[in-house]
Amino acid sequence: MSEQAVAFDSATYRQIMGNFATGVVVVTGLVDDQPVGFAAQSFVSLSLDPPLVGFSPAKSSSSWPKIRASGQFGINILGEDQQKVCADMAQSGVDKFANVHWQLGLTGVPKLDGVLAFIECSIEDEHDAGDHTIVVGRVQDCACVQGESGPLLYFRSAYGSFV
Ligand SMILES: Cc1cc2nc3c(=O)[nH]c(=O)nc-3n(C[C@H](O)[C@H](O)[C@H](O)COP(=O)(O)O)c2cc1C
Repeated sequence: MSEQAVAFDSATYRQIMGNFATGVVVVTGLVDDQPVGFAAQSFVSLSLDPPLVGFSPAKSSSSWPKIRASGQFGINILGEDQQKVCADMAQSGVDKFANVHWQLGLTGVPKLDGVLAFIECSIEDEHDAGDHTIVVGRVQDCACVQGESGPLLYFRSAYGSFV
């Protein structure tokens, strides 16, 4: 496909894409025995057989190259009461885990306390996608952690919950 001039600017594009409501996850990894992670709304369940999931880290992410080098990652699906966790994990260049409790999952990636579900993956594949990368992970283990809470949702740059 040839490149064409587009009739919308970057801010408008972001605003329009913000109309797609999503849940929020924190992608985690263990690097030099320390937890690393970042908030992501690009998580997607890709395949049941084999069990594959995906998400898209920005190429500007400082955490993803470190997690990638470890070869595995965790997906922590946030509950509606975890806005603060999400905000902490959406920062860059700070100690994001200062106020976040976690423990190691079966494969050695950090599981945040209080999440709805936790998925442990090995890195299966990566695809270039402009200023992001599409990461495909193979699920090695998964569990529902908390049954009662609803999901944390993100819509038009604001948090919400499922009613
Ligand atoms: C609700 C929400 C969803 C986000 N989704 C993504 C995402 O899918 N991919 C991404 O790269 N960054 C996403 N971000 C931004 C990162 O969490 C943010 O840039 C983070 O601070 C990057 O940290 P790092 O430099 O430690 O990687 C999201 C932020 C928020 C608040």
